[in-house]
Amino acid sequence: MTARIIMRLRVEALEADTPEVLRLTLRHPRRPLLPAFTAGAHVDVRLPDGRTRQYSLCGEPGEAETWQLAIKREDAGRGVSRWLHGEVTAGGDLMVSAPRNNFPVAEGAGRHVLVAGGIGVTPLLAMARVLAARGEAFTLHFCARSAALAPLLAEARAVCGDRLVTWFADEGRRFDAALIGPAEAGAHLYACGPERLTEAVLDHARAGGWAEENLHAEHFQATPDENFKAEPFEITLASTGQRLLVPADRSALEVLREAGLSMPSSCELGICGACICEYRDGIVLHRDKVLPVAARQHRMTPCVSRARVGVTLEL
Ligand code: FES
Repeated sequence: MTARIIMRLRVEALEADTPEVLRLTLRHPRRPLLPAFTAGAHVDVRLPDGRTRQYSLCGEPGEAETWQLAIKREDAGRGVSRWLHGEVTAGGDLMVSAPRNNFPVAEGAGRHVLVAGGIGVTPLLAMARVLAARGEAFTLHFCARSAALAPLLAEARAVCGDRLVTWFADEGRRFDAALIGPAEAGAHLYACGPERLTEAVLDHARAGGWAEENLHAEHFQATPDENFKAEPFEITLASTGQRLLVPADRSALEVLREAGLSMPSSCELGICGACICEYRDGIVLHRDKVLPVAARQHRMTPCVSRARVGVTLEL
């Protein structure tokens, strides 16, 4: 199903960070160190029944003995977080992939503006750790219903100091995306949290003249366009010239696999980037939330994206 390396990790500790958020500490049962990761990276957590979900690594980036995950219990969705909250025990095992980063810190930026909504703080806290260590200018805006429901708040305070600005609704402080202000030379903006917050931040930034390449967002939920009407299209494989028809009710990923190609995937919702492949010669209808605008000229996510009439994939 997926080409990502999956490891069986030991749950060294678990604790309630807030009434809704479970914090897990994971360790490899035999190796002293886990694979290195960079700030903004996530891993896939795979349940025994195969359900998979992405969670950001919120601890200190680099090569470490343990990884930290913060899991918010979501009552909607595929039930992965409910399972984790109900079934994980200290000393038990959890299947976790190697890290992947679709949301890296920009190099050489003059300033970084981070906007977190609730559990969206997880990748941004890892970024704040790196920026604080590098001595780079940054501000972390942290929005939540209350301090008691703000995940990892004590750590965010310790890491950021006065670079943390909290927006807790029960204190009458609500974040207004207009605070983002007009574009600043060399500044980069990162948003992670509920879709409406992320979209409001990005919309304001675009209206304020921020360059697209300076805007970064991480999505952990798909928001399907209910008005999208899928049409059949044809894939040509660049390596062999083979042509494959993708019917309106199938994904390109499914058709490629049926044709015998070994295609990696994880979320199959257009948010993780596991299935990204290169294309040429076609008009692609991008439906993912993971590819930056510039990458859409030559890369696509066959789990959700389609093409108008036909596309040639570099496979
Ligand atoms: S499998 Fe996650 S983006 Fe395609």
